[in-house]
Amino acid sequence: MSLTFGFTNIGNITCEGIISSRFSLLTLSNMLAGKKIILGITGSIAAYKTPLIVRGLVKAGAEVKVIMTPAAADFVSKLTLATLSKSEVFLDLFKEGTWANHVQLGRWADVILVAPLSCNTLSKMASGACDNLLMASYLSATCPVIVAPAMDEDMWHHPTTKNNLRTIEEHGCTIIPVQYGELASGLIGDGRMTEVEDILIFIEKFFTQNGELTGKKALVTAGPTYEAIDPVRFIGNHSSGKMGIAIADELYSRGAEVTLVTGPISIKPNSNGIKRIDITTAAEMYEACVSTTYDITVMAAAVADYTPVEVKGEKIKKAGDELTLVLKKTKDILATLGKQKKDGQVLVGFALETDHEKENALKKLKEKNSDLIVLNTLQDKGAGFGHDTNKATFYFKNGEEKKLELKSKTSLAKDIVDTITQLLK
Ligand code: CTP
Repeated sequence: MSLTFGFTNIGNITCEGIISSRFSLLTLSNMLAGKKIILGITGSIAAYKTPLIVRGLVKAGAEVKVIMTPAAADFVSKLTLATLSKSEVFLDLFKEGTWANHVQLGRWADVILVAPLSCNTLSKMASGACDNLLMASYLSATCPVIVAPAMDEDMWHHPTTKNNLRTIEEHGCTIIPVQYGELASGLIGDGRMTEVEDILIFIEKFFTQNGELTGKKALVTAGPTYEAIDPVRFIGNHSSGKMGIAIADELYSRGAEVTLVTGPISIKPNSNGIKRIDITTAAEMYEACVSTTYDITVMAAAVADYTPVEVKGEKIKKAGDELTLVLKKTKDILATLGKQKKDGQVLVGFALETDHEKENALKKLKEKNSDLIVLNTLQDKGAGFGHDTNKATFYFKNGEEKKLELKSKTSLAKDIVDTITQLLK
């Protein structure tokens, strides 16, 4: 167990965690790498949010082409969308004697997202009217189509709208439900376009729904735990959470439903689709982990083994030359989950060692009833806390040992998830 004494404002850390997880998809991610997406924008006030959709998709690695209806151009600037998508924005079917190849556009995309979908364009999609480039591309598209409607409440509840939605659903379109809230008319009701980050999660889920881990529930722990000594000091360790986050991202990108239980860290997972539970202490991490059962559990957190018997209510004042803290053992989460483990569940633990590495790793494998122990040793350069790289050895129940080269934590996360996938089989 490594002990570091430090100062923190725990309140701020938790708060930062919540705020940052809310915006994480807009700031980093590679979840949509290589995906080709057409964003169709129609004439609705919600079009003012579309630059954020483009930005989120591009940040997530997607190649985005925007097609606007003429009415959409009144609500959002072509220049903004072209700049953010790094591509020409398509609006006209015909321009100065040239013809926009809608068939090519429709066939280029892996998915067409129409957001916002106005009442007018919905009606055209239902009837097959083809009077603009977006409609021509939609009608000639061979890829899936997802729509995010936006309209005023009365229009949303009109029987014609319901019929049109039913029709396009029958034609294979996927509808992202509208939200209840403030509408452009000033009324409060149904009809608001789903929030941008939820649209982005929807798109991500769409691409991961047929992943090899779809239908599996996964739990990942990451980061350190902090055990309070008094209101300003704690016992902690140097874990950055990078390894756990990389594993959570990898599991999510293969379709698993991921819960990430993390101690105080400054980095974020790639997707808001990962359910994040921020904790501070080992006891909180224990509670967050043992309440639900998962198909896959990866305990990458550096959990404190001991916590102060007593947390002082006031700051401990400097007094004698020595200070003795009395600590008590925390509950071992991995060992608890190992005891509860059923057939078909995969349990992965980590071991960070400074000496007798293999012996200690094998002991943890057995005592905590894990299927795999990932050993890191602080003897290896570039491995362990804080680095972007890691060097690991896998130990399996059957005694097998697999030594890996020094590699990025992202790449090691892929190896770990590959191994989990094999173990599940
Ligand atoms: N672990 C846990 N709960 C604890 C302590 C550790 O779930 N209270 C998990 C860690 O997340 C890791 C594995 O157990 O997956 C091994 O943790 P490590 O700190 O290396 O080993 P310990 O069992 O704590 O033993 P030691 O510190 O003496 O090496």
